Amino acid sequence: MDKVGVVQQWQTLQNGLENLTQATAPMPTPGRDEVLVKIHTVSLNYRDTEVCMGLYNHHKVIASGGSEPIVPCSDMCGTVVAIGEGLEVAHRVGDRVVSVFNHMMRTGHFRAEAMAAGLGLPLQGVLQTYRVFPSIGLVPVPSYLTDAEACCLPVASVTAWMAINGMRPLGQPGGAGEVVLLQGTGGVSVAGLQIAKASGATTVVTSSSDDKLHTAKTLGADHLINYKTTPRWSDAVMSFTEGHGADIIFENGGADTLRQSFDAVAFGGIINCIGYLGGKINKASNDEDDRTGVNVLALRRNMTLRGILNGPRDRFEEMLAFYEKHEIRPVVHRVFSFDESKTAIQFLFSGQHFGKVVIQVAAEATPQ
Ligand SMILES: NC(=O)c1ccc[n+]([C@@H]2O[C@H](COP(=O)([O-])OP(=O)(O)OC[C@H]3O[C@@H](n4cnc5c(N)ncnc54)[C@H](OP(=O)(O)O)[C@@H]3O)[C@@H](O)[C@H]2O)c1
Repeated sequence: MDKVGVVQQWQTLQNGLENLTQATAPMPTPGRDEVLVKIHTVSLNYRDTEVCMGLYNHHKVIASGGSEPIVPCSDMCGTVVAIGEGLEVAHRVGDRVVSVFNHMMRTGHFRAEAMAAGLGLPLQGVLQTYRVFPSIGLVPVPSYLTDAEACCLPVASVTAWMAINGMRPLGQPGGAGEVVLLQGTGGVSVAGLQIAKASGATTVVTSSSDDKLHTAKTLGADHLINYKTTPRWSDAVMSFTEGHGADIIFENGGADTLRQSFDAVAFGGIINCIGYLGGKINKASNDEDDRTGVNVLALRRNMTLRGILNGPRDRFEEMLAFYEKHEIRPVVHRVFSFDESKTAIQFLFSGQHFGKVVIQVAAEATPQ
């Protein structure tokens, strides 16, 4: 039950997953161009675990490990409960909305100054019962999605959408006939698998687990590779694609996987540098191939190596129209209660999940 006038929240001092604490704050009032949202569900991203551990430090303009407590997490679905004067983007009380990861990213490429507006560091996040947002920082939720599904969209799905469509003109999504390689079965890759299949692409999924590969198959994955039992997975990609390679690669492993991504990419293809689950720094290697310069690796396939930082609001809206048309439902692996938030974040960090991990903050606003 809500305590009148009080916001329940989880906080971190960025000093470890085990040290999250619960706190309360006064109920905020929406100011000019602001919207007060009652939060129903929050989905977790790998980034949230890094914030809680003080490890989200590769963006130099964001200070990690500060002494002020921060509410973690960026992705929520909730209901508008109050609005301020002069909204730039119209919202009505009762509307169901999801957060935009960074409200300063309206269109085009990510600009340096927008780094100041990421939810859940440096801005206070959404793992709380109520929060005020600028009107531009919210988008309406298609009615076919549950709250648990909808809260999975802002980071994982938008990033996957940008990996597949970010180089194409706005309003002209593509992918039909292309080969898309998805590393691992976390939130970004599973969203990418769903978008790629709905786009008419051929998909290759890698995973550490045969069980997870089996689940990927049920979502339509065309080719499956266990990267533990097939360490030269790039050879398998070339074999499955009869020497063509992958036109679009979701590069999630970073230091562990980038070298093989260069061997798995098609001529003219794109490696999207999204994650670094295998580490941020290349370990020393005695393998001569590993020392080949990135310039040569890029030019020998005439390919593009591209860093991805989520995506802008107009691309989020473009993606929502595509999701609605194809009735794509984000894959929710497990839902934890608000009181279990600490366990939920530890569970995500353990990597046992397939797709997304969700926290139920309040009762569902819509039927399941
Ligand atoms: N740039 C951006 O805008 C952006 C946005 C979202 C996420 N990210 C980053 O992208 C990465 C994935 O994010 P996520 O939210 O999808 O994470 P997640 O849900 O926590 O996904 C974790 C999964 O990735 C797979 N994995 C783990 N280590 C791997 C490795 N060394 N090589 C290949 N796959 C590995 C595992 O799947 P299996 O068990 O199936 O192997 C694991 O279950 C993270 O590094 C995250 O920080 C970046």
